[in-house]
Amino acid sequence: MLDLRGALLAALMVGACATEAPPWVEVDAAGIDPGPVCVSGRYWSQGDRGDNHMHPGRDCIGCHTATQHGPRFTVAGTLYNAGHEVDECLGYDSDVQVGQGAEVELTDATGQRFFVIANRVGNFYTTYPLRFPLRRVRVFSPGGRVIEMNTPAPHGDCNACHTRFGTITPSGESPGRVIVPR
Ligand code: HEC
Ligand code: HEC
Repeated sequence: MLDLRGALLAALMVGACATEAPPWVEVDAAGIDPGPVCVSGRYWSQGDRGDNHMHPGRDCIGCHTATQHGPRFTVAGTLYNAGHEVDECLGYDSDVQVGQGAEVELTDATGQRFFVIANRVGNFYTTYPLRFPLRRVRVFSPGGRVIEMNTPAPHGDCNACHTRFGTITPSGESPGRVIVPR
């Protein structure tokens, strides 16, 4: 298993030079405790209808680019309650109206900082033209707790790497979903 991952990683690093957005390899779920499958117990059910609550957990920028529909986000993703929730499961309910807002802090390649607030299904996104790689990415809970990605993010398609069980990328293995720290 480890040998296989090493080989995949090597292949990815070679491939990374040639393609702008390498297809990150999904982690084999064997041996990972899946935990709760969908903490909210609610799912997106309206297919590709354009909506800011659409397809939580799925690859926002990848699909918008491939279909040439939807906004051209520079950064987009979903915040979850637990690390291995399934696609389409509504994520962390970040209702800014009642002060539950969870925020994603992005420091771009020029050192500028931006904050993006997640919505009621955990989705967050922006079309602001920030510069990649992102030097620092942090997630703040409403109570001010924080978790940080240890390596710079090469692009803003968070869910492409943060799939249910994670992906093997040139900078390491992503741990699964982006969660709100508690
Ligand atoms: C499988 C494809 C697909 C995925 C995955 C997807 N979208 Fe979309 N999205 C679309 C399409 C198609 C449209 C345009 C629909 C239309 O014009 O009616 C759209 C439109 C939108 C819009 C515009 C809505 C409006 O009011 O016009 C937003 C916001 C959006 N998507 C957010 C997201 C976010 C955030 C994610 C990831 C969590 C995401 N989408 C994932 C296909 C997708
Ligand atoms: C190219 C793949 C990739 C992209 C894109 C990416 N991540 Fe990550 N992320 C990882 C990997 C790998 C790790 C684990 C190693 C590390 O922390 O650098 C990680 C770790 C994290 C962590 C820390 C998790 C923990 O439990 O400590 C957070 C938070 C995070 N990412 C948020 C994000 C957000 C938000 C975005 C979108 C702006 C994003 N990531 C984009 C691959 C990626």
